[in-house]
Amino acid sequence: MKKRIAALLSFVVLFAFVFSAVSFAAEEEIRSAECVKGTIKVDGEFEALWENAKVIKTDRYQGDKVDTYSEVRTMWDENYLYVFAKVYDKVLNAAQDAKPYEQDSVEFFVDGKAERADKYDENDAQYRVNYKGVITGGTNFDEKNFKAFAKITDFGYVVEASITMESLGIKGTVKVGDKIGFDTSFNDDRGNGVREGLAFWSCTNNKAWKDPRQFGILNLVAAPAPKVSETKTETGSSQNADKTTSAASNPKTSDFSQIGLYLTGAAVSIVCAKRAIRKKV
Ligand code: BGC
Ligand code: CA
Repeated sequence: MKKRIAALLSFVVLFAFVFSAVSFAAEEEIRSAECVKGTIKVDGEFEALWENAKVIKTDRYQGDKVDTYSEVRTMWDENYLYVFAKVYDKVLNAAQDAKPYEQDSVEFFVDGKAERADKYDENDAQYRVNYKGVITGGTNFDEKNFKAFAKITDFGYVVEASITMESLGIKGTVKVGDKIGFDTSFNDDRGNGVREGLAFWSCTNNKAWKDPRQFGILNLVAAPAPKVSETKTETGSSQNADKTTSAASNPKTSDFSQIGLYLTGAAVSIVCAKRAIRKKV
């Protein structure tokens, strides 16, 4: 009888462990990144301020992997969410008129407040810019909320754009610590007038155009503290040290420590249960 209870206890502990590990893995599907504060002039020029922004990569290919890829930076202030995409694309084409998402282009998907609804609500939208700077979009696309410039470069093209905080429903309230649902993708026409490749930052199933749950998350962080050399006073002491600019948290490291905790917890529970039962026998 006691053996049975011990076996049952071990089973319950193991089940709890497996269940939490599985739901934890599912959550891992959604990517997140820091989005640093700063004000950008949207003109297609890569200004020095962009160096403060974290680079996110579109490496979740849908279908065959192509050699095109994009590196995207994001930034925010009280009025706009800014994006700068560098697209490494060897052959540029926008011949597919009927379906702009089959042209060489980048897309931005936004979900104000990161509510992650199963359909687009009023603070969600889809925007697209081709390599010539032609703007199109999907649900809630409204040119008054989106400004974009594109430039052809030696490696492909760049797109710089801004999306109003008003359209995201957070104008007047947006602050450090807030989250915005966000995804970005590129569409690649290799010269044949059709889309032959595409990849996202977070979405894994090309449903981002209708399902905001596929987007990743941007965590809004403060502008970096000015460099010490810039803040030296005449007496040689430094000022303005912004202690709130924390180091980027590394999800991978914390994930492993979480798994370690689960494993240790499960092992300890099993050993304790066995000992308790042995004592009673
Ligand atoms: C998708 C298309 C979709 C379109 C709608 C694109 O991002 O790849 O499949 O029809 O958005 O705007
Ligand atoms: Ca192309």
